[in-house]
Amino acid sequence: MKLAVAATALAAFLTQALAAPATSGTLQPATVPNCGYPTVPLLRAWSETATDHVYTTNATEMDTFLTNNYTAQGIAAYILPADTQAPTAVPLFRLYSSKNTDHYLTANATDRDVTLSRGNYVSDGIAGYVYPDQDCGTVPLWRLNNHVVLDNFFTTDQAEVYDFVDQLGYNDLGAIAYVNPQ
Ligand SMILES: *[C@@H]1O[C@H](CO)[C@@H](O)[C@H](O)[C@H]1NC(C)=O
Ligand SMILES: *[C@@H]1O[C@H](CO)[C@@H](O)[C@H](O)[C@H]1NC(C)=O
Ligand SMILES: *[C@@H]1O[C@H](CO)[C@@H](O)[C@H](O)[C@H]1NC(C)=O
Repeated sequence: MKLAVAATALAAFLTQALAAPATSGTLQPATVPNCGYPTVPLLRAWSETATDHVYTTNATEMDTFLTNNYTAQGIAAYILPADTQAPTAVPLFRLYSSKNTDHYLTANATDRDVTLSRGNYVSDGIAGYVYPDQDCGTVPLWRLNNHVVLDNFFTTDQAEVYDFVDQLGYNDLGAIAYVNPQ
């Protein structure tokens, strides 16, 4: 079980400060001219009952989350689709823990394997593709983690990184990959 008090405070903050108006139905693929390869929006949603952020490029899957206590939070990043031609792109793996009700992303295959081997997470496919290095004007995709509410949070927005560290008790664990800027 998660800590109810911390979760409630967190939920109140997130609901007020971070609920974004975008909905999955209005999103279009975007081509950003950085490395020259088309990208797709990585959608984010948040569940205050589960204290969980979830990420997907699949608008149909997102709609399922939105009918199950998740609130849309717009676009977390622009990543490369499954059929990308970008030569240096690597998979952004998704993992899920039903015990923690936590969705996790990693572009590091060793991290994925180590996390799976610990038994709390199962593989949840590939969200899309990302750059392992900061090429062509790409920006960091930051990972933050909160051990109290057992949530992993991912963003390209430096202001969100500061807010989550300063106000919500998340730890900044650095860049997990590089993506086209918003
Ligand atoms: C998107 O999600 C839906 C619902 O989960 C699934 O049926 C469909 O296969 C997914 N599409 C792709 C391209 O993965
Ligand atoms: C949504 O939240 C309500 C209130 O906490 C809970 O009773 C319900 O089981 C949740 N539904 C799902 C699908 O998680
Ligand atoms: C990948 O993950 C492993 C296991 O956590 C870690 O030892 C390694 O430093 C990571 N590699 C990079 C490039 O971050």
